Amino acid sequence: MYIRPFVIATEAGVSASPATEYKFIIILAPAQKYYAGDVKVTVAQTFSRAADGGVGFAKAAGNYAAQFYPTDLAKKEGYQQIIWTDANEHEYLEEAGTMNIFFRVNDSLITAPTSDRILDGITRKSIIKLAETMGIDVQVRPVTITEINAAAQKGELKEVFGAGTAAVVVPFVGLGYKDNHYDFAKQENSYASQFKKALNDIQYNRAEDPFGWRYEVK
Ligand SMILES: Cc1ncc(COP(=O)(O)O)c(C=O)c1O
Repeated sequence: MYIRPFVIATEAGVSASPATEYKFIIILAPAQKYYAGDVKVTVAQTFSRAADGGVGFAKAAGNYAAQFYPTDLAKKEGYQQIIWTDANEHEYLEEAGTMNIFFRVNDSLITAPTSDRILDGITRKSIIKLAETMGIDVQVRPVTITEINAAAQKGELKEVFGAGTAAVVVPFVGLGYKDNHYDFAKQENSYASQFKKALNDIQYNRAEDPFGWRYEVK
């Protein structure tokens, strides 16, 4: 069940200006799996979904529209999603598709800090909290493709996964960067599977909720 609040302008007329009338709507709809099957990601080298001073932090429709064409091109190259990079240098790894992104290098978990280019996702925040509670070394800091490429070449890049409400956690099976492609073998007890299970268990009332995330709906 997907619960999606949204706002649309309803004022009659054609003009490039804020409307004076809006409608706030919440839809509840069954939804199919967001990221079905194996997901390989490629690092954006040309296109961007968000830029400094923009609205990349918000669920604004234009952010998603800008993703369709580059994602279509990536699909033709065998990738299902794109790792979005900063618009200036295409160096900093920021989001994956419509998810926040995490890298496991050796046993450390790294994710970019939020900014006006990155959505402050609830799943990201939950995973950071869970990882800290599990005693994992969590690093919230800018993360570059140079660093991740070097870690991959040394065999230190163990996992890359996306995090968002719709899919919870999506482990990526492959990562492409320029002429390099790295595959990740499916792992027992990966961080991704541990976080997904821990979050699902809290959501489905199967585990204690030490964080106070669960609310009883009466
Ligand atoms: C661009 C983008 N990043 C990240 C997320 C994940 O956010 P959340 O965990 O709040 O669902 C979403 C979710 O829709 C998103 O659209």
